Amino acid sequence: MSYVITIDGPAGAGKSSVAKRVAKSLGIKYLDTGAIYRAIALLLAKSEIKPESEDFLREALSEIKIELRENSVLVNGFDVSGEIRTPEVDELASVYSALPVVREALLGLQQDQEKYGSIVAEGRDVGSVVFPDAKVKFFLTASPEARAKRRYLERVNKGKEANYDEILESIKHRDKNDSQRELAPLSVPEGAIYLDTSDITEDEAVTFIIHHVNEAINNHNEAK
Ligand code: DC
Repeated sequence: MSYVITIDGPAGAGKSSVAKRVAKSLGIKYLDTGAIYRAIALLLAKSEIKPESEDFLREALSEIKIELRENSVLVNGFDVSGEIRTPEVDELASVYSALPVVREALLGLQQDQEKYGSIVAEGRDVGSVVFPDAKVKFFLTASPEARAKRRYLERVNKGKEANYDEILESIKHRDKNDSQRELAPLSVPEGAIYLDTSDITEDEAVTFIIHHVNEAINNHNEAK
């Protein structure tokens, strides 16, 4: 039986690290939908296609080829995995992902991933729009300050430059964009299990999620 687990939530709530570990522990695939939005935003910006040029956007989107590999995203054959993790792309992705034309173009690609087996999908609307029939849905969040601190430490540990106040500002700005956009705004999907990670460790979040997934799988098996 293949199944989908969704993890939605704002930037920096720890979704990615938690989702990756949950997928590994369950022996299923991890789908990072944010990476798809990032890759598309980077390519559109590089091609100088403005967010307001709907016709150009539609044409460009119909020609872009995205490939999802285990740990990388390829756009038109080029691996952009490193390039999409910058503060500039944080902002670009937030802007382009608010556009209906972009979201429509990427919906099928995300849904198709279910054909290849069970997945843990992570994003902003994976439980509400992309996989509304997911087996178990989670919503991970944390205070803006806790999230900014994590992003700050992540960058510092990678030897990159970081400024806590700028990161906090960017997180607040993206929260606003992501939750106030008209189409598929960031929201708690119906039936999702809510987890605030501000004061818990990553291990605790992973254990919590796996516990609920196993419970859902056991209930399903017992009901058969
Ligand atoms: O999770 P992330 O920071 O890598 O996401 C990058 C951007 O993409 C973020 O601004 C929100 C957007 N996004 C989205 O709109 N829908 C998703 N399912 C995933 C990400």
